[in-house]
Amino acid sequence: MPPQQTPEAFVHWLRGASPYINAHRGRTFVITFGGEALAGGGLAELIHYLALLDALGVRLILVPGTRPQVAARLAAQGEGGAYAEGLRVTTPAAMEAVKEAAGLVRTEVEARLSMGLANSPMAGARIRVVSGNFVTARPIGVRDGVDFGHTGQVRRIDGEAIRRQLADGNVVLLSPVGYSPTGETFNLSAIEVARSAAVAVGADKLLCLTEGGMTTESGALARELSPADARAWRAGQPADGDLPRTVSAAIAALEGGVRRAHLIDRQCAGGLLLELFTRDGVGTLITAERFEAIRPAAIDDVGGIIELITPLEQAGVLVRRSREVLETQIGDFWVMERDGMVVACAACHPYPDDGVAELACLAVHPDYRQGGRAGALLARAERELAAHGMGRLFVLTTQTAHWFLERGFVAGALGELPVTRRAMINYQRNSKVYIKEIA
Ligand SMILES: CC(C)(COP(=O)(O)OP(=O)(O)OC[C@H]1O[C@@H](n2cnc3c(N)ncnc32)[C@H](O)[C@@H]1OP(=O)(O)O)[C@@H](O)C(=O)NCCC(=O)NCCS
Repeated sequence: MPPQQTPEAFVHWLRGASPYINAHRGRTFVITFGGEALAGGGLAELIHYLALLDALGVRLILVPGTRPQVAARLAAQGEGGAYAEGLRVTTPAAMEAVKEAAGLVRTEVEARLSMGLANSPMAGARIRVVSGNFVTARPIGVRDGVDFGHTGQVRRIDGEAIRRQLADGNVVLLSPVGYSPTGETFNLSAIEVARSAAVAVGADKLLCLTEGGMTTESGALARELSPADARAWRAGQPADGDLPRTVSAAIAALEGGVRRAHLIDRQCAGGLLLELFTRDGVGTLITAERFEAIRPAAIDDVGGIIELITPLEQAGVLVRRSREVLETQIGDFWVMERDGMVVACAACHPYPDDGVAELACLAVHPDYRQGGRAGALLARAERELAAHGMGRLFVLTTQTAHWFLERGFVAGALGELPVTRRAMINYQRNSKVYIKEIA
C-alpha cells in the first residue's frame, strides 16, 4: 500500500485506485467521527483525507462528535456528568459545555479545512465549509424515570438545504446540536445526526470512524455484513456501548435507503482512504447489496466500462473501442456493478436476420476474477438471446479460447459469421471464431 517505493509500484497502486476514484466521484458521503479524533495529531491527517475526497469530487457531510471536549469542560468545573442509555444526561451546565465544545470543534475543523499552505497536502485546496441550522430537535424527556434534560433527538433534517449546499460544491459540517421550533438548543448524539442526515439527503455512504473495530466472536474483524448479520451481532452486545449504537445507526441508515455503511477503526493509519480506494478495505461494510446484480448498461456506465477495458485493449486482449462507439452500442452492453464501480461487462450484438448474436467485450476487473462473474454474464446473455429467438452465439477471441471451449463453444470458421460482420473483421488480429448453439 502507499506510500510506494518504486515508480512501478506507485503506478500500479494509482491504477488500482482509479476505478474507485471514478466510482466515488459525485457521490455523497456522510462521515462521522468522535471528538477523540480531534485530539493529538490525528486531526491533521484526517483533514488531509477529507480534503483529498473533496478534491476527487466526493460530496461531504461531516459530523464530528464532541464528547471528550464536553467532558473536559465539565471536569474543569468539577462536574462529572451522568449517562443513561449511552447518552449524556444534559443539565443546564452541561448544555453550556456542549455549546462551547460544539463551537470549538466546528471552528477547529473549519480552520483546518481552510488551510492552503504550500508544500503541504492541502496546497491550493480551497474548501468551502458551511454549517447552519439544518437540524431540528426535540427533547428526549423523561425515560424510565431518567430526566434527560437538554439531551435531544433528531426531529427533522433539512435535507433539501444540505443538498443545495453540496451541489454548490460546499462541504457541510453538522454539529451534534439541534434547535427546537421553540428556540431551545439540544445536545444530540453525533451518530444519530449522521444517520438522520444520511437518510435525509439520500447519501450513498455513511462512514463512521469508530474507537476500535467491529469484531466477530472469534475476535476477527467483521468484514462484510448484511443488515441481518449486523442485527444478530448487535443483539449480543450491551445496549449502551458506543460501537453497538453505531451499528444500530448503520442498520437504520440502510433501512432509510443509504446503500452502504462502513465502520472504520479510527486508529488504523490511512483507514478512511484504504476503505474507500482498495478492494478489500480495512473496515466493516454493512450493506444489503452483497452480490452485484447483472443489469443492462446505461450511458452513465460508459466511463466505468472504459476504465475496465482500457488496460485489456492496451494489452491487445480486447479490440479497441472509442468512447463514441461505446456510446452508440451501450444498449448492447450488460454490466455488473459493485459500490458504483463497473467490475464486469459484456456486449451482445444481435444479427436478427441470421438468427445469431456476437458476444464481445467480455471483461472482468482483475480484482474480481475467478468468482464466476464472466460465467454468470455468459449465462445471462444466452438466456436473453434465446428468448429473443437467437439460435447461436459466436465470439472472436485471440487469448481466451479455452474459457469458451470449456463452456460449450466449438471452433468455427469465419465463413459461418453473418456477412455484415465478416466485412468488419480485422484480419491482422488473427482472431479465432467459436460458436455455441443456444436455442
Ligand atoms: C476471461 C475472463 C472474462 C474470465 O472472468 P472470470 O469472472 O474470472 O471468469 P469465471 O470466474 O467465470 O471463470 C474463471 C475460470 O476461467 C479461467 N480462465 C480465465 N482466463 C482464461 C483464459 N484466457 N483461458 C482459459 N481459461 C481462463 C480461470 O482459470 C478460471 O478457471 P478455474 O477456476 O478452473 O481456474 C477474465 O479473465 C477477463 O476479463 N479476461 C480478460 C478479457 C478477456 O480475455 N475477455 C474475453 C475476450 S473475447
